[in-house]
Amino acid sequence: MVLVFNFGGQYAHLIARRIRDLGVKAELVSPDIKVADLKKLSPQALIFSGSPFAPFDRNAPKVNMEIYDLKLPILGICYGQQLIADQLGGKVTSHEKKQFGKETLNIKSSQLFSEIKNPQTVWFSHGAQVDTLPSGFKIIGSTKNAKVAAMENSATNIFGIQFHPEVTHTPSGNQILSNFLFKIAKVKKDWDLAEVKDEIIKNLKNKIGDEKVLMAVSGGVDSTVAATLIKVAAPQNLHLVFIDTGLLRKYDLADLKKVEIAVGFKNFRIVDASQRFLKGLKGVVEPEQKRKVIANLYFEILDEEAKKIKNVRFLGQGTIYPDRIESAQPTKHADKIKSHHNVTLPDGLTLELIEPLADLYKDEVRKIGRLLGIPAEFLDRHPFPGPGLAIRILGEVTQERLDIVKEVDEIFISELKANNIYEKVNQAFAALLPVKSVGVMGDERTYSYIVSLRSVDTTDFMTADWSKIPYKLLEKISSRIVNEVRGVNRVVYDITQKPPATIEYE
Ligand code: XMP
Repeated sequence: MVLVFNFGGQYAHLIARRIRDLGVKAELVSPDIKVADLKKLSPQALIFSGSPFAPFDRNAPKVNMEIYDLKLPILGICYGQQLIADQLGGKVTSHEKKQFGKETLNIKSSQLFSEIKNPQTVWFSHGAQVDTLPSGFKIIGSTKNAKVAAMENSATNIFGIQFHPEVTHTPSGNQILSNFLFKIAKVKKDWDLAEVKDEIIKNLKNKIGDEKVLMAVSGGVDSTVAATLIKVAAPQNLHLVFIDTGLLRKYDLADLKKVEIAVGFKNFRIVDASQRFLKGLKGVVEPEQKRKVIANLYFEILDEEAKKIKNVRFLGQGTIYPDRIESAQPTKHADKIKSHHNVTLPDGLTLELIEPLADLYKDEVRKIGRLLGIPAEFLDRHPFPGPGLAIRILGEVTQERLDIVKEVDEIFISELKANNIYEKVNQAFAALLPVKSVGVMGDERTYSYIVSLRSVDTTDFMTADWSKIPYKLLEKISSRIVNEVRGVNRVVYDITQKPPATIEYE
């Protein structure tokens, strides 16, 4: 296993994913990990990630100096290289000529660059640079503005690169990571998703034993794959509930039923709670308040279901690796870690959490879903938020508005699918704006709602660009919507990036 020290760089997760794609287990750890805890994990190599800090900044994250004495191969990336230089006696400074974006790297002979041609295009994203090497190090790569773009100490197997090998803008990035892992650190491959799947199922079997597991499935990819793993491990013990909040799209339940048939879920109950949710949301306009109402009702219903089943010990959840890491960040959120392992339902019933996907990234969840026989069309769905259509109807949620947004969303999504655009964009949906505008249809004046269509291209959902859907298709979708959906006379297409906008509207 390889440990990636997460200094807060936006690409730490991406580094871990690249390493896993190369067949090696990678875990993110906090820079203040205790040396004893690190040893317990028996890593074969360490990677230091990038960071928004420079080592000379106040509060810049550092590692315990004893870590360098462990004689493990280390690759420092960007801030990681600067930190190694700073901690081992070199010098890092802020440079006038900052390096951002693509640069040409001239490389010297090094195992890190084996099988890579000179020069190479690489991608930079930092203002500071190593000025003076620590003793025992030599320069193995330079650019026009960065003398120490890459450095090595081949005696201790400590390497640093100022650029990012994990992003696609560095074409030889995977080869560099692979050279470090297999040629330098001699790491063994230990991350094969078919084996990971079998291991998860084995662990679930041991943990569940004869106990009952309750799990709510929403039709989302994560909860469905998690439920399928539990079903394979303990088919008789799993009790599934689908809470129909009425805030779902027209096709959510139908799609889930296809999965139910494909994987053979037993004990599958549908609870129609749509009127309860609508009542709870009556008069609620504030987005956070909407989320609260929905979450409270959701747990109330889970509690009722748990009581009906009797003696439920576990609650299954589809938490994935980035969610777990984000909610367990050491400083700010340390107290959240504990609450994560148990969920107390409204009247005090405490269920232990089972999270089969807690070590996996989204693309790995999809691959495991495929291995489990879940239909591909289902696994490739866009994400859908927990509060559902409630946060896509701005203002109060009413039955009329829900009906409108469901119709519009179905037209939009089915046209994207029919025109082979759905799989090219990362998330697309319709939102209803709670204002009416004047229009004309036939000879009649209309006064109806405006709907907004949003489609985004993104890799991590943290930043996003709006999709450049062809005008012809937008035109067809718009005219279908105003012709087919009563109550809508105007369609707008959202051309805002994230940031400054978010993907959802509330
Ligand atoms: P934003 O709107 O924050 O969304 O740009 C980023 C991604 O997160 C999804 N999202 C949610 N998912 N519960 C969820 O399960 C929520 O409350 C929620 N809010 C946003 C959103 O659909 C997008 O994929």
